[in-house]
Amino acid sequence: MSIDAELMPGSPIGIMDSGAGGLSVLQQIKALLPHESLLYAADSAHLPYGDKTPAFVRQRVNTVAAALVELGAKALVVACNTATAAAVESLRERYAMPVVGMEPGVKPAVQGSRSGVVGILATAGMAGSSRMTELVQRFAGERQVIVRACPGLVEQVERQALDTPETTRLLQQYLAPVLEVGADTVVLGCTHYPFLRPLIERLSGPGVRVIDTGEAVARRLHHLLQQGGLLNSGAAEPQMRFYTTAATRPQAELFSRLLGSTVEVEPLSARVFNQSPEELSDESQATT
Ligand code: DGL
Repeated sequence: MSIDAELMPGSPIGIMDSGAGGLSVLQQIKALLPHESLLYAADSAHLPYGDKTPAFVRQRVNTVAAALVELGAKALVVACNTATAAAVESLRERYAMPVVGMEPGVKPAVQGSRSGVVGILATAGMAGSSRMTELVQRFAGERQVIVRACPGLVEQVERQALDTPETTRLLQQYLAPVLEVGADTVVLGCTHYPFLRPLIERLSGPGVRVIDTGEAVARRLHHLLQQGGLLNSGAAEPQMRFYTTAATRPQAELFSRLLGSTVEVEPLSARVFNQSPEELSDESQATT
């Protein structure tokens, strides 16, 4: 079933995450596709997704996606590994527009590893997903792939605690079992973690390669837009707009810090913002 309005090359790209992590993907999209207008929606009122059920995450992703489509998106990027695992297929069934999801870089990690041991850091929801199991089964081969659930890291990024003693303690705890068995590659399986990359690299040491798939997602989006004749010609001045389901002022401060430039954040929409859990579950039943 497709419920897309007519897709126009000049329309914006809709990017979503549970919070501010997807901004790491937005930065890659902006770098590769500078002529495109971007809408960024953070479901901050329901963060983190990593400790919620897949059904709840699917409801939220469908609701936020519908709001982005209402705002005119011509393509959707689920800039969240946890949301991709739970909901990307339901979005593809619902919309004919390009829908791009995240996938931890297990394949490049395994291919590039010299020690034969690779660690993947992810949220609990992503680490325990069938998507993660399938990825590891598909690409691990003879290599040892260790998947680590990392509760608390998303919240540290949302608190702007990018390099604090508590974040360091959590990361040391999550990295130790991976590094102790000789991992030479660490995969960032959550879009919040690129904001912790300097700390992860420092704690891992110079012999460890850190892999993030944000750039690959931007390339995939470029390919799909090109294929669909949806690339913006560059005629109109590109715009970026940011939305949240939580209070806007703290989010504006957080987004500005992570992006390194001052941005404004708007409420996603009165409808999404005020939706009751009952309405959400009605909606999810209607769309799945
Ligand atoms: N950025 C999301 C991801 O990539 C974080 C999910 C969460 O909110 O726990 O998985």
